[in-house]
Amino acid sequence: MKDGQIAGLVKATAERLRHGGVTNARREAEWIVQEVIGRDRWLSGVCRRTPLSADETARVTELARERAGGRPLQYVLGTVEFHGRTFSVGPGVLIPRPETEQLVELALGLYPGHGEVCDLCTGSGVIAISLALTLPGPPHVLATDISEPALAYARRNAAALGAANLTLVQGDLFGPLPAPRRFSLITANPPYVSAGEYDALPCEVRNHEPATALLAGSEGLDIIRRIADGAPRFLSPDGWLLLEIGETQGAAVRELLDARGYAEVAVRPDYAGRDRFALARSRGALRRLPHGAADGRPAGSRLRCGGGKRWMEAAGGVVRPVGEARGAAGAGGGAF
Ligand SMILES: C[S@@+](CC[C@H](N)C(=O)[O-])C[C@H]1O[C@@H](n2cnc3c(N)ncnc32)[C@H](O)[C@@H]1O
Repeated sequence: MKDGQIAGLVKATAERLRHGGVTNARREAEWIVQEVIGRDRWLSGVCRRTPLSADETARVTELARERAGGRPLQYVLGTVEFHGRTFSVGPGVLIPRPETEQLVELALGLYPGHGEVCDLCTGSGVIAISLALTLPGPPHVLATDISEPALAYARRNAAALGAANLTLVQGDLFGPLPAPRRFSLITANPPYVSAGEYDALPCEVRNHEPATALLAGSEGLDIIRRIADGAPRFLSPDGWLLLEIGETQGAAVRELLDARGYAEVAVRPDYAGRDRFALARSRGALRRLPHGAADGRPAGSRLRCGGGKRWMEAAGGVVRPVGEARGAAGAGGGAF
């Protein structure tokens, strides 16, 4: 490469990526070079006339080799932009997707201005940290994930971004949540890919991103169903549950939330018009009734919901006090 100059390095890198089958080769080459020489130096323009050191050239060559070998760009660079901040990512944690920024926007609109927030399936912590740093208050945010490698990224990100009002706990969904604990808002971008969809995912995803972050049983609903079962025991009266879902799951998720007695169940589209988010509200009025037969009937028989097909109690214990039957939320194999 001519004199090791930046323009030549970008060109050679793009060529290497193109040979590796990377479609956006020129742009990705620029990102890789920027990553190695530093954004300020790249943007200053001076860099374009500044010779590169041998170390820098070798580093760019190494990153291009990884990328041309099929490793996702975000893992190669080690970072991803999300909701205006830079997060560390790498093997072992899901690469946050742009549509999840919309979930954060929805969460900002739903948060009532008081109370704690819980983020399940937090991965690199993008949702939890964005909310911890953006919500008014700010509230305390408690986030859980079953994967210790994923949580290591979340911890690193929380420290780097200064999210001191965030607690990260390893465990199965609601399992590690201290009781009694109620949240004004519970968010989750859970695994929701069905077994069939998983097989059809690009190799770049299947070969590199953790299957536990994606797969959720034959219909992709295993984890969503468990969250819907468990959330009522951890939601404040009138608290919101907000989920990212697969684009074909809108009707099924609406039905399962209705069947469990949630109020104000709705499915929202992403900017491309695909059903990607489900929200539902705890039945606050029910919660405020004393535990037991406040109206003369057993708690489980008090209300019918979901077209009269399911009973509240059977659907997850909406009227039980916090702390009871926690095992139900934490039970189950965890499809991935
Ligand atoms: C789709 S990723 C979402 C990560 C992150 N919230 C985001 O939006 O980028 C799902 C996450 O759920 C975690 N997970 C899978 N099964 C779980 C379970 N049973 N309990 C808690 N976390 C789980 C995975 O480790 C993964 O980090």
